[in-house]
Amino acid sequence: MSATHPAIAFSVNGQPVAVATAPIRRLADVLREELGLTGTKIGCNAGDCGACTVLLDGEQVCACLVPLGQVAGREVTTVEGLADGELSLLQRAFHQCGAAQCGICTPGMLMAAADLLARDPAPSPVAIAAALAGVLCRCTGYRKIIEAVAAAAAGEVGAQAACTPAAGRAVGTRLPRVDGWPKVAGTEVFAADAAPADALWLRIVRSPHAHARFALGDLAEVRRRTPGLIATLTAADVPGDNAFGIFAGRKDQPVLAPGLVRFRGEAILALVGTRSALARLSDAQLPIHWAPQPPLAGIAAALAPGARAIHDHAPDNVLARGNLRRGDVAAGHRSAAVTVEGEFETAFVEHAYIEPEAGYARPLEGDRIEVSACTQAPYMDREETARALGICPTRVRIRPTACGGGFGGKLDVSVQPLLAIAAVRTRRPVRVVYTRTESMTSTTKRHPARIWAKASACADGSLAAFEMRADFNTGAYASWGPTVASRVPVHAHGPYRVPHVWNRTRAVYTNDPPAGAFRGFGVPQAAIAGEALIDDLAERLGIDRWQMRRRNALRPGDATASGQVLHAVGLPGCLDALHADWQAALARAAAHNAHAARHRRGVGIAAMWYGCGNTALPNPSRMRIALDRDGKLTLFNGAVDVGQGSSTVLLQIAADALGLPVHQFAFVGGDTDLTGDAGKTSASRQTFVSGNAARLAGEALRGRILAFANAGPGARLTLSGRQLTIADGDAVRTLDLTRLPDAGGVVLEGVGSWDPPTTALDADGQGVAYGTYGFGAQMAEVEVDLELATTKVIAMVAAHDVGRAVNPTLVEGQIHGGIAQGLGLALMEEFVPGRTENLHDYLIPTVGDVPPVKIYLIEDAEPLGPFGAKGVGEPALIATAPAILGAIRHATGVRITRVPAVPHRLWEALQARRGAAP
Ligand code: FES
Ligand code: FES
Repeated sequence: MSATHPAIAFSVNGQPVAVATAPIRRLADVLREELGLTGTKIGCNAGDCGACTVLLDGEQVCACLVPLGQVAGREVTTVEGLADGELSLLQRAFHQCGAAQCGICTPGMLMAAADLLARDPAPSPVAIAAALAGVLCRCTGYRKIIEAVAAAAAGEVGAQAACTPAAGRAVGTRLPRVDGWPKVAGTEVFAADAAPADALWLRIVRSPHAHARFALGDLAEVRRRTPGLIATLTAADVPGDNAFGIFAGRKDQPVLAPGLVRFRGEAILALVGTRSALARLSDAQLPIHWAPQPPLAGIAAALAPGARAIHDHAPDNVLARGNLRRGDVAAGHRSAAVTVEGEFETAFVEHAYIEPEAGYARPLEGDRIEVSACTQAPYMDREETARALGICPTRVRIRPTACGGGFGGKLDVSVQPLLAIAAVRTRRPVRVVYTRTESMTSTTKRHPARIWAKASACADGSLAAFEMRADFNTGAYASWGPTVASRVPVHAHGPYRVPHVWNRTRAVYTNDPPAGAFRGFGVPQAAIAGEALIDDLAERLGIDRWQMRRRNALRPGDATASGQVLHAVGLPGCLDALHADWQAALARAAAHNAHAARHRRGVGIAAMWYGCGNTALPNPSRMRIALDRDGKLTLFNGAVDVGQGSSTVLLQIAADALGLPVHQFAFVGGDTDLTGDAGKTSASRQTFVSGNAARLAGEALRGRILAFANAGPGARLTLSGRQLTIADGDAVRTLDLTRLPDAGGVVLEGVGSWDPPTTALDADGQGVAYGTYGFGAQMAEVEVDLELATTKVIAMVAAHDVGRAVNPTLVEGQIHGGIAQGLGLALMEEFVPGRTENLHDYLIPTVGDVPPVKIYLIEDAEPLGPFGAKGVGEPALIATAPAILGAIRHATGVRITRVPAVPHRLWEALQARRGAAP
């Protein structure tokens, strides 16, 4: 590309550079590919996400929109230019405040903030939000980013080493992320940032049809006439099983479709070659003969009488059913003072992580294959890749890169099997980077739901019965549909004592994109319906909505509707924490509305619960801590940190269990050749499940050390260089590590494995579904413009029972991020196949959309949790949408039954209410 173009000279981070390339080429590409400055990220290549933000002559610009020709003679500053050996004050502020979670947006955020602080050294929160408005973050909810910029402006930033808790004191501290430095330095290696220099490129050809048969013509001819095209891979080139998925018996998605596609975006053909060869070859030039068929779009079409079967194994298009039945629900309704019911509908929701899928594969010695990609589930990737290759899993090495957001969307394999097949077929390294549209088109979504629910209560407000029938659109392939079908019945009636319950679910195949895991596995959709009915009952009974929830909240010693007796239940504490805010917000809204006809304020509240870990299935985790002869202490941790902070939390737990300071630990993460199987980063399980494994590993190593020194359980450990000192009262023993027998350099190690104690559920859903549950309650204050039908969330208050906040900064970050995603679910996010396949049509909350969030952390220690802790990743999101919808209803009198409550939908509801008014 460079040979025929004169060099364009400019300056980058103070250094003159000259790049001979096309002047039309994007600055972002030049920075990354020609200059190796991969700190500048590409999330959309369309000016929508701001991940590529750099400074051009001191002003923030999207580098993906700037042609290099416009840069001639000018100064570019990238994230790599912020630090001068040491991290800058701004970078340290991001690190200290927990402003970087996954870190993929962090370089763009830092550059936008640097631009602001150069212009306005003491910016207001409004000015900060305005400056950051062009950069999207899907993880943090923006609050800690705003906090970090304000802290940097005020100079309120500590030294990097300020937080070094002593031995036994790590749990409970606001330890900055142990993997945070590279995220704020811009040196973190995400999936698109690195690959072997000689890697070929992979391009996947996808179906433009939701349902079609197809035939491929002469691909050898295509290869002959396309120099640089090395291979064309079809279904016939998949050496093993051409089917992947989550559950045995339901691995139904082909790596490459064999002549029939079931959704728009399905992979049918893979091209492998040089990047320029692939770029020159359009899909229209390929011999693909399509025979489109009428698709079954949506649940109603798939369940219609006589609907064709999308898969032979599901003649009625029902992939899976769930059921929970307790008591006599009909009798419960009959005995009640009031009964309410309603129908609700939710949309496809896109994960919209800022990092599109990417990675590479390469052959290894010993007839093995390595795949390096972003993922939430390295061991599952290993299994699925090996299945597609038809080889033993031990011949596959998965090396996860840093993961730029997942939220469930990177649990299913995406790039891994095809990369591996391409590398095996060509015997070369092969890489791929999805475009934003490809990511959105081809990967899983949140299940759309169609829900009917009915609830009854006695005159005093105590719940008498609850019933739900919910259908979930699982799309063309199974993915996590069975999980949604089984999890929702356990949770659907909410965190309340209900004597009579009957919840039924179906996961329904359609010709829509596959729906999979997305922060909550169907529970957020069910909570929208269930919490609306709680509000209905409260209204009918004339009981305050907070009071209604408090009266029915589960308490320690209660049994769930699935018959599980609960021990740690912090929900009453969460609701009590909100009470003063609730009353104050109601008073504020009333005072405002007394003088406001058009802009009406409302307050809503919702409670939630969420079982941590897999539903009634084993989900063990394994951790290992090793001490080597040089005194290096390492936690080998296979739990992938997708931004939530598990690498830090697990180290804090391991350190306190062992009794050595956390800063003396190194960690090795998520490489299937080096770490044990910690299971998937999903279902809010890593703190609870892997945390217990880390605790056990720490305790095991401590036990070995104490036994070696013949010391008692209260002995203090000190590690200094190659000497380990054990002080037990007056007895002090020092071990010279170099003198201990070693295995591969390791002189002492501890291994911990833990699996939550669950039991299988019977046909009525009775059993121990989860080891523990997270509880929470949130309230929302909104202002609705009755003329424009727009909704502005002006404040959120969240109280969450986390058992023990191992790292309060990270817990708060999860709550902020969950609320931001819940706000999107309630008000703006709706994926429409074929129409919203980029980030300018599919809108996610910006910094201007997420209000201040007040947080109460309720620490009701879970006896099974490591140091009492349980998960918060998914619980943080579940109550948000129902709280916001309740607030809209309080402001307007309109009950929204179909989300998102976008303006046209709210306007129609307002019009209908006006029309119905007497
Ligand atoms: S990559 Fe440039 S704005 Fe998204
Ligand atoms: S930290 Fe902002 S997108 Fe992940």
